[in-house]
Amino acid sequence: MSKIIGIIAGSLRKESFSKKIANGLLQMAPEGFEFKIIPIDELPIYNQDFDDHHNVPDSYVTFRNNIQSVNGIIFVTPEHNRSIPAALKNALDVGSRPYGKSVWNGKPAAVFSNSPGNIGGFGANHHLRQSLVFLNIPVMQQPEVYIQKSNELFDEKGNLKEGDTKAFIAKAVTAYIEWFKKNA
Ligand code: FNR
Repeated sequence: MSKIIGIIAGSLRKESFSKKIANGLLQMAPEGFEFKIIPIDELPIYNQDFDDHHNVPDSYVTFRNNIQSVNGIIFVTPEHNRSIPAALKNALDVGSRPYGKSVWNGKPAAVFSNSPGNIGGFGANHHLRQSLVFLNIPVMQQPEVYIQKSNELFDEKGNLKEGDTKAFIAKAVTAYIEWFKKNA
C-alpha cells in the first residue's frame, strides 16, 4: 500500500507561490508514495471553547481526519514578518487539540520555506521548526530548503519552470523520502 504524504501550503491567497510549489510537488511523488494537498483555508481561528463545549466546526473535523490519514507531511511555508503566517500557525493549533489528542504526533516532516526575497523564508522555516519540536514532529535536517525568488519560478500556467530551483526541490523531495523511510 502507498504511503501518503500530506502537503500543507501556509498561505491563503489564490495565486500563492507556496500553493504553486505545493502543486508542483504533487508530480514528484516516487513509486510507493502518494502526495496529497491538505487545505487550511477554511479553518476558523482556534478557540478552545469549540472543543470544550462540543461545538467543533466541520472544517476542524475534516482537517484533523486529513492529518490523521497521512503518514508524513511537507510544509511549504511563506514568511510573514520573519515568522510563519497566522493561517499556518492556526492549522498547527487546530491539529494539536483537544489536549492529548494531537493528530501531529510522530509524523515525519520536511519544511520548505519560500519568498520572493533573497533569504528564502529562513525566519519562517526556523519558527516553524520550533513548534514542530513541541508537537513531536521529527523534521528532516538536510538539505535545508530556503526557496528564494519564488515569484520567478512559474510559467504562465502557474507550473514550476524547469531550472536549478525545480531540480533542487526535486532533490530535496528525494532526500525527504529516503529520510522518511528511516524515520517513519
Ligand atoms: C510578507 N512578505 C515577507 N517576505 C519575506 O521574505 N519576509 C517577511 O518577513 C515577509 N513579511 C510579510 C508579511 C506579510 C503580512 C505579507 C502579506 C507578506 C512577502 C511574502 O514573502 C510574499 O507576499 C509571498 O508571496 C507570500 O507567500 P505566498 O502567499 O505567495 O505563498
